[in-house]
Amino acid sequence: MLARLAVRSVLTKKFIRRIPPLLVWVKAALTQVTLPLVFSAGAPLNDTSEFTQSETGKGIEMDETQMMEFVGQAVADVGALLGGAMVVIGDKLGLYRAMAGTGSVTPAELAARTGTAERYVREWLSAQAARGYLCYDGGGRFSLHDEHAVPLTDETSPACVIGAFEIALGSVYATDTIAERFRSGEGFAWGAHDEHVLRGCVRFFRPGYLNNLASAWIPALDGVEAKLAAGARVADVGCGHGASTLLLAGAYPASAITGFDAHDGSIEAARKRAADAGLAGRVRFEAASATTFTGSYDLVCFFDCLHDMGDPAGACAHARAQLAPGGTLMLIEPFAADDITGNLNPVGAAYYGFSTLLCTPSSLSQDTGAALGAQAGEARLREIVTRAGFATLRRVAETPFNIVLEARA
Ligand SMILES: C[S@@+](CC[C@H](N)C(=O)[O-])C[C@H]1O[C@@H](n2cnc3c(N)ncnc32)[C@H](O)[C@@H]1O
Repeated sequence: MLARLAVRSVLTKKFIRRIPPLLVWVKAALTQVTLPLVFSAGAPLNDTSEFTQSETGKGIEMDETQMMEFVGQAVADVGALLGGAMVVIGDKLGLYRAMAGTGSVTPAELAARTGTAERYVREWLSAQAARGYLCYDGGGRFSLHDEHAVPLTDETSPACVIGAFEIALGSVYATDTIAERFRSGEGFAWGAHDEHVLRGCVRFFRPGYLNNLASAWIPALDGVEAKLAAGARVADVGCGHGASTLLLAGAYPASAITGFDAHDGSIEAARKRAADAGLAGRVRFEAASATTFTGSYDLVCFFDCLHDMGDPAGACAHARAQLAPGGTLMLIEPFAADDITGNLNPVGAAYYGFSTLLCTPSSLSQDTGAALGAQAGEARLREIVTRAGFATLRRVAETPFNIVLEARA
């Protein structure tokens, strides 16, 4: 009933006409007319009539409540898809930052604070209030609760979600291209994505690394923290824009940290970030793939990237070959259960979506094209790492978004 009421309130009849297969049911919801829960074999409603009839002509029994609940969920998802763009706009224009901790604002006040046009701001505020991101306080005033301000504005907080929206929006830009790749089976390289993906990636992952890497993940590895503090050689493979590399360089100044990535543009961006952070002298970035990087290391890390690689098994075998005696491989991978049924939840939904648009195409664009996917799970990773010649693999930490694995030769 709730779903039906929600649908009534948000769907206009014009929109309903655009989804003819659902017409009869949604009309029922709108008019409160009770229709039989059977697609009748009667007169076709329109040119999609085959949808309204079963093959045998006997009709298909359906649970109307269940279907209307699904329609309600789908409408919410349309709002969520558009809401993602609203969040990116709010972040880009500093709308959230201008509202954080300031109480109620009118559209005109927010527009004045941010140098934006009041009419656009009013529409954005309404859209965000409808999604529950902002609060409508009445009298044309809106506010951003502190509990929402932190995830939307504080990139040092582990609760920060703003980067996830940027990478998601950038991923969606590739929808048509990826749909085409479904037909051809070809891949799509990481570096070919829109800049939002590359920038969003570092913003998405960095808060988790900032809050866990030096405080929890490195200490959880056997004997590694002491080595890094004394001065060790570290390779951060698939480093992207260098979020983890720079955090390691900052936390362990005696160690020599090198970031490698196959994408030249990411290496350039990482070098610039190092210079901006005043860490250029403490860290090195080199363009190289996971199967060709050189040097000898006490610690080799893969942060959220092994599954993006064409040959994760080859990458692990190469990492093992580059490890100094007693060295450690640290794998940070997306949180996932071993079986799909354990991943059918909101985190899994986000990761499978990213995996379809980003990770799987990235792997398929490379030699071997193993296409592990972002929800591989520990058991599959164990197979890969063991086949690469590592003697042990253990989970040393986890967060809602990541698992952290330690492999020793
Ligand atoms: C999801 S991003 C993660 C970036 C970074 N580790 C982070 O956590 O922000 C995946 C990265 O893996 C890199 N990559 C993909 N395949 C690679 C390969 N075969 N060798 C080296 N880097 C690779 C991509 O260029 C991209 O920067």
